[in-house]
Amino acid sequence: MKNFVFHNKTKIYFGKGQIENLHSEICRFGKRVLLVYGGGSIKKIGLYDEVISQLKKAEMTVFELPGVEPNPRHTTVNKGAKICKDEHIDVLLAVGGGSTIDATKAIAAAAKYDGDDCWDLIKRKAFVKETLPFCTVLTLSATGSEMDGGCVISNIESNEKLGYFAPDNNPDVSFLDPTYTFSVSSYQTASGSADIMAHVFDMSYFSLENRMDMLVRMQEEVLKTVVKYAPVAIEKPNDYDARANLMWASSWALNGFLYDGLSHATVCHAMEHELSAFYDITHGHGLAILIPRWLSYVLDEKTAPIIKRMGVNLFGVDENLENTEGAKQAIKALENFYFVTLGLKSRLSDLGIDDKHFKTMAKQACGWRGGVLNGFTDLTTQDVENIYRLCL
Ligand code: NZQ
Ligand code: ZN
Repeated sequence: MKNFVFHNKTKIYFGKGQIENLHSEICRFGKRVLLVYGGGSIKKIGLYDEVISQLKKAEMTVFELPGVEPNPRHTTVNKGAKICKDEHIDVLLAVGGGSTIDATKAIAAAAKYDGDDCWDLIKRKAFVKETLPFCTVLTLSATGSEMDGGCVISNIESNEKLGYFAPDNNPDVSFLDPTYTFSVSSYQTASGSADIMAHVFDMSYFSLENRMDMLVRMQEEVLKTVVKYAPVAIEKPNDYDARANLMWASSWALNGFLYDGLSHATVCHAMEHELSAFYDITHGHGLAILIPRWLSYVLDEKTAPIIKRMGVNLFGVDENLENTEGAKQAIKALENFYFVTLGLKSRLSDLGIDDKHFKTMAKQACGWRGGVLNGFTDLTTQDVENIYRLCL
């Protein structure tokens, strides 16, 4: 285990009705707020009205940026940053899922950047020195963006989807009310749940080095929580306990606690972001398709015990099985969970994806890491292309 500093500045209000504290929190940061949201789900569930009434109570001057896309675009971020500069915005408020929150994070940084294209920051041509404060109201349990400093933005013209992580880019305050997720579709619930699991898997669970027993056990508890409650939320969308467990699991999977000090490979995220960049698919669904095929590809005598352990602890695979056989059964159980229990389609071809861009995608996925994705096992561009083909 490496030395580490654990610091997470996000203040969380968790539970039903906590929005009533929004007015007293947001006015700490100033009087002019940019409200950022997506394609309209917050209006359908009445949350928009609740938020506006809180902002009125705080006597804020409200500007709006609606229409943030799933897989948020850099052009939308630029639009938001321009409003912030033109209107001297003091604070941002994201109301929505990971895409809305990520766009808001990027706007918070771009608003303080002298240039007019946030893509300079995402591509590290310029560095984030300062950001505007921002709060979030989460409506979809998935990305952990409500309690982390990560942010992923897409440039559709160049087929790039890139993330950056800045510890100071965490939300200042996040409101997590599970009732706001009652309206999330079964498809987005399934994809979001797969994303939560992928954060635990990808950040450190599937790693040969720097393991710490306490953290591995806690990672498994978060994973088991998703395995238990995602099917309940799909069957009974208004089940408060199920939605609450998924919501808090989403935040804990990626807020640093479960993996600070361990190795972070994020190999599957690197591969998935290329799928989203080229085909604009739902992030968690892409991960669900990739992860079992990736595990089969990297299965060897070193990785087998850890893959088997996942099967034993999450899905009741027989622990007396020999490691390789146990690992194979663990992968089957994981596939069954994603594709039968959660009902996600299992192949890239089901999403209209063929092998046309696989070579470029594999090169781009490895490009950021010097040509090789280091992780559970190291993957070359050829390996990544082979894994995409296994998913077809
Ligand atoms: O746009 P609206 O109308 O709000 O509809 C959204 C969208 O269509 C809908 N939705 C959200 N809350 C809802 C709801 N529908 C009904 N009721 C509600 N309460 O769901 C759809 C998907 O929303 P989106 O925000 O795109 O989903 P998600 O939260 O999964 O975010 C995905 C984005 O986050 C990035 C992904 O790559 C992707 O771009 N990630 C961000 C991370 C981070 N910041 O740390 C880490 C992740 O690994 C991930 O890469
Ligand atoms: Zn993810």
